[in-house]
Amino acid sequence: MLQLNLLGEQRLTSRGTDLAGGGSRAVELLAYLVVHPGIRVPRSVLAGTFWPETPQPQAMTNLRRELHNLRRLLDGVDALGMSDGAIGALECAGLRVDVQVFAAERAAALAAAGKDPDRFVAHAQAALREYRGDLMPGNYSDWVPGMREKLLRECTALCDEAAAALTSLGRRQQALEVAGRRVTIAPLEELGYRGLIRAHLALGDRPAALHAYHRCADVLERELGVAPAAETRHLLGLPAPHPGAPGPAARPAAAGNLTVGRDSEQAVLETCWEKARAGRPALLVLSGPPGVGKTHLAKALGQRARTGGAAVAFARCVDASGRIPLAPVAGWLRSRDIAPLLAALPEPIRHEAARLLPELPDPTPWAGSDVPPGPGRAMVDAWQRFRFFESLAGAVAAPGRPTLLVLDDLQWCDPDTAAWIAFLLDSPAARQLLLVATLREGADTRPPAIGALLEGARSAGLLHRLRVAPLDEAAGAELAGRIRGRPLGTDEARLLAAATSGFPLYILEAARAAPGDGFGTLLGRRLSRLGPAARSVAELAAAFGRGISLELLAEAGDLDTVRLAAALDELWREGILLPTGSGYDFGHHLLRTAVRENTTPAGCWLLHRRLAKSLELLNAGRLDAVAATLAEHYELGSNPERALSFHLRAGADAVRVFANSAALKSYDQALGILGRLPAGTERDEAELSVRRAMSPPQTALLGYSSAELLGNLERVGALAERLGRPEVHSASLVGLFAGRYVQGRIEDSYAIARRALDLAGDDPALLGQAHFAVAGAAQGSGRIAEAIEHFAHCTEDSPPGYSYILGTRLHIHARAWAAHAHWLAGDDAAAVQLCAQALAGAQADGHIYTRAVALAYAAVLGQFRGDRAAVAEKAAELIALCHRYDIAYYGQWGEILSGWLAGGKQGAARIRAGIGALRASDALARMPYWLWLLAVTLADGGRRTDACAVLDAARATAALHRDRWWLPEVLRMRALLAAGDQSAALLDEAREVARAQGSNALLARLGPDAG
Ligand SMILES: Nc1ncnc2c1ncn2[C@@H]1O[C@H](COP(=O)(O)OP(=O)(O)O)[C@@H](O)[C@H]1O
Ligand SMILES: [Mg+2]
Repeated sequence: MLQLNLLGEQRLTSRGTDLAGGGSRAVELLAYLVVHPGIRVPRSVLAGTFWPETPQPQAMTNLRRELHNLRRLLDGVDALGMSDGAIGALECAGLRVDVQVFAAERAAALAAAGKDPDRFVAHAQAALREYRGDLMPGNYSDWVPGMREKLLRECTALCDEAAAALTSLGRRQQALEVAGRRVTIAPLEELGYRGLIRAHLALGDRPAALHAYHRCADVLERELGVAPAAETRHLLGLPAPHPGAPGPAARPAAAGNLTVGRDSEQAVLETCWEKARAGRPALLVLSGPPGVGKTHLAKALGQRARTGGAAVAFARCVDASGRIPLAPVAGWLRSRDIAPLLAALPEPIRHEAARLLPELPDPTPWAGSDVPPGPGRAMVDAWQRFRFFESLAGAVAAPGRPTLLVLDDLQWCDPDTAAWIAFLLDSPAARQLLLVATLREGADTRPPAIGALLEGARSAGLLHRLRVAPLDEAAGAELAGRIRGRPLGTDEARLLAAATSGFPLYILEAARAAPGDGFGTLLGRRLSRLGPAARSVAELAAAFGRGISLELLAEAGDLDTVRLAAALDELWREGILLPTGSGYDFGHHLLRTAVRENTTPAGCWLLHRRLAKSLELLNAGRLDAVAATLAEHYELGSNPERALSFHLRAGADAVRVFANSAALKSYDQALGILGRLPAGTERDEAELSVRRAMSPPQTALLGYSSAELLGNLERVGALAERLGRPEVHSASLVGLFAGRYVQGRIEDSYAIARRALDLAGDDPALLGQAHFAVAGAAQGSGRIAEAIEHFAHCTEDSPPGYSYILGTRLHIHARAWAAHAHWLAGDDAAAVQLCAQALAGAQADGHIYTRAVALAYAAVLGQFRGDRAAVAEKAAELIALCHRYDIAYYGQWGEILSGWLAGGKQGAARIRAGIGALRASDALARMPYWLWLLAVTLADGGRRTDACAVLDAARATAALHRDRWWLPEVLRMRALLAAGDQSAALLDEAREVARAQGSNALLARLGPDAG
C-alpha cells in the first residue's frame, strides 16, 4: 500500500519507507491529479501548468519523463487513468491519499449534518485527523495556493460545525479539543480564538479562557500589528484599553512585530537561510549579552521562513538543574509545524520518537528492544542510541521541506541535546536545515558539551557566528519613539542611549515607563507596580523557572480562579508573562531573575515545596516524565528524601532515552544526598543501588575502560562485600573484568574473573557471565584448555541469555570467542562449527551489537585460517554494520584486518590507523596480535627493519600485560627476520610458550623441533 501525504507535508511512502519527498516533480504531478478528482487533464494542459516558461515540445518531453518516473514510483499501483492524451487520477486500493480521505470523510459528515449528529461528529473528527496542516506547504506553483486556501476553509468550517454539534451533544471536552485544533490550523483567525474562549468558559475555566485571549492578542499583535476586537474582549468582560494608551497595540507592554535597525544582521541571517534551503545545512549562533536582542532576531527569521512555507520550530533551554533530558528536542517535535506530521511518520521512526513523546500513538509499545530498562540494560548500547538519534532526526527534519529550528539560550543546553544536535547536523536528514541558536555571553563558563558542539560544527564547516551588538543611538530612539507614539528629541535620545546602553530590553522598559519618569532603574520598577496577587503569581512562576502550566499555577498558588485570571491578565499587560503552549513564561529571563531576587529565602523555600507537591499531584501516573524537575524542587524545598527518590527515577528515565549525561547527573545528585545521610546499612544499600544503576550509562558514555566506570565498579564491589551480597559483588567483578581485559591488563582481568566465579553462587545467569569472564581471560593469557572448559560451562550449563554487563547475547559471544580457543588448541573443525553457530545465532536473533561481535570474531578466525575470502566478507560486513550503528571498538578489528588483506603501504597505514584508534580509547587487549598483523604487512612490503621494531613492541606488550596467546607467532615471525643464532633461540622460546599454552595450532606452525 502506498501513501501519499499532501497535508502539512508532501511525501510518498511505501510501508513507512520514503519513496519521494517534497522536491519530487513526479509526486507533484500526482498531487495535481488527485486534488482534481474526476477530471482527465489533457497532456498539453499538464505540460503548460508544470512548465509554463518552457516551449511546448520541451515541456511535453519533461512531462513524459516525469510520468515515467511516477509510474516507476507507483510500481504497478493502478492510480493513473490515461486515455486520448488525457490523464486523471483513479481512486484505487493500492494508494491512500490524505486529501482524498479528508474529502470523503467531510462529505460523509456533511451528508449526516442536521440528521444524525453522532454520525456527523464521527466523520468530521475523522476528517480533522487527516488534515495535518496546509496543503503542500512551501509549494507556490500557480495551482497550489488557491487549492490550499479552499481546503483550509473547508477544514475550519468543519471545525466550527463540529464544535457546535459537540457542544449541543453535551460533549464539551471534545468541543474544546476541536476549538483548539481550529486555532492551530488557522492561528491568525480571531474567530477561532473566540470559539476557544467560549469552549473554556463553557467548562468554567476562566484562566484558560484568558490564556486563549492572551495568545490571540499576542499573535495578532505580532503578525498583524492589531489588537483583538471588542467582541473578543467582551466574551471575558475585559475593559477597553484606554484611548491614550501608547504603542502599536492595546497594552503598554506590547512592542509588536516591530524590528528597528538590524539590517546587516538580518542580511546575514537571510543568507544563511537561503543557503540552507539550497541544501547547505548550518548552525548559526547569535551571541551577545542578555537583552541585546538575540532571541528577537531568531524569532523574526522564523516568522519570515514560515511565511515562505518552511517548517519552523522553536525550543528553549532553561537554567535550572532539574532539566528534562532532550527537552528541547521534544519541544521541537511538539511544535506547530512538526507535531501534526508525527502520526504519519514511518512506523520505526514513530516508534523511537515515542520514547520522547509518550503521548504519541505507538502501535508497538516500547519494550527497550527486548531488554528491560534500568540496571538490566546493556552497558554497550551506543548503537541503540544511534538508531534513536537517527529516528529523531528523521522526525524533526521533514524531507523535502526546509526546516528552521531555533534553540534559544544555548548556554543552558544539556549535554545530551548538544550531542544530538551534533548528530543532526551531520545526518542526511538535515539536507535543508538551519539551526539558529542564541548564546548568551557573560561571566558564566560555558559547559564542555557546548564547546564540543561548536567546535565540531566549526571543523565541519557548518558553523556561522554572529555577534549581536546593542542598537545605536538613532535606532534606540526610533524604538522608544514607536512605543511612546511620538518621536524623541535629541536630548531625550542621548539620555536614553546613556541609560540603556542601546539594549532593546531596557529601551522598551524605559519607553513604557510613565511619561514623567526618567530612565532610571528599569526592570525593578515595573515589578514594584504589581498588585499582591500578580506578585505572588510572578514569584511562583519564577521559582518554577521554566514555562509553567495553568494547572500548576492553579494548584500551587493560593488564588481562586477569578483572582488568578486577574493576576495573569495584569502580568500579561505588563509584558512580564507571555502565553506559551499550555501556560505562561517570562518575557525575558532577566525579569525572572529580578523576581527571584525580590523573593525572600523563606518564601522561596515554601514556593519550591508547594511546586513540588502540586507537580507530583498533577502528574500522578506519569511521574517519570517530570522526575528531574520534581527532584530539583524537593531539593530546593529541603526535602532530601523525596528529592533522592526522584533523582533515582529521573536517572532511570534518562537512561530510557539514552540521555547518559543526564542520567549520570541525576545519579550524582542522588549520591550527593546520600553522602549527607548518617552512615549505616540502609544508606549503604541505597548507595549500592545508585552505583549499580550508574554503570550502564557510564559504560555507554565513557567506555569499558574508563577510570570513572572502574572506580564505580570497585566501590560497588566494596559495598556489596560489606553488605554481604556476594552475587552483586560478583556482577561488579564481571564488569571490572571487562574493563581490565579491554585495557589489556589480562593477568589482572584473570584474577578478577576468578573471584567473580567464586562469588557467583548458584544464580545461573551470573554463573554464565562469570564462566565467560574466566574463559576470556584464560584464553588471553594463554591458558587454552582452561578457556575451552569455561566457555563450555558458559554455553552448556547456564541458560541462554542476555549479558547485562557485556551488552551481548552471552551464548553467541561465548561461541564466537570459544572458536578462537579451539582453533588454537588445534581443533579446526570445532572452531569452524562454533563460529558458524555464532553467526547463525546472531543472524536469527537480530541483536545488532551481538551480530557485530560474531562477525568480528569470525573475521579473526578467517585470518588465523588463512581464508582471505572469509576475512574480506566478514570484515566488510562488520565495518558497514559498525558504521551504520556507530559501534565503537569492533569496527577497528575490521579496519585492521582489511589493512592486512590489502597489504602494501596503504594496508599498513590502515592497520596503523586502526591500532591508533584502539590505543586512543585505551583498548589494548590483543595488541600483540594486531601488531603482528602490522609486522607481517610491513615485512611483505620489504620493510624488514620496521617489521622487527613492531614485533619487539608486540613482545614487550605481551610480556607487560601477560597478553600471551599470540606470543608464539610473534616470536616465530621475529625469528624469521633475525640472524642465525638469535633466530634459533627465538624459535625455541616460541615452541616452549606454545607447548606450555597447549596451543597446538601455533606449535604446528613452528615446524619440527630442530634440537
Ligand atoms: N531590533 C529590535 N527591534 C525591536 N525590539 C527589539 C529588537 N531587538 C530586541 N527587541 C526586544 O527587546 C527585548 C529583548 O530582546 P531579546 O531578543 O529577548 O534579547 P536577548 O535574547 O538578547 O536576551 C524583547 O522584548 C525584544 O522583542
Ligand atoms: Mg534571549
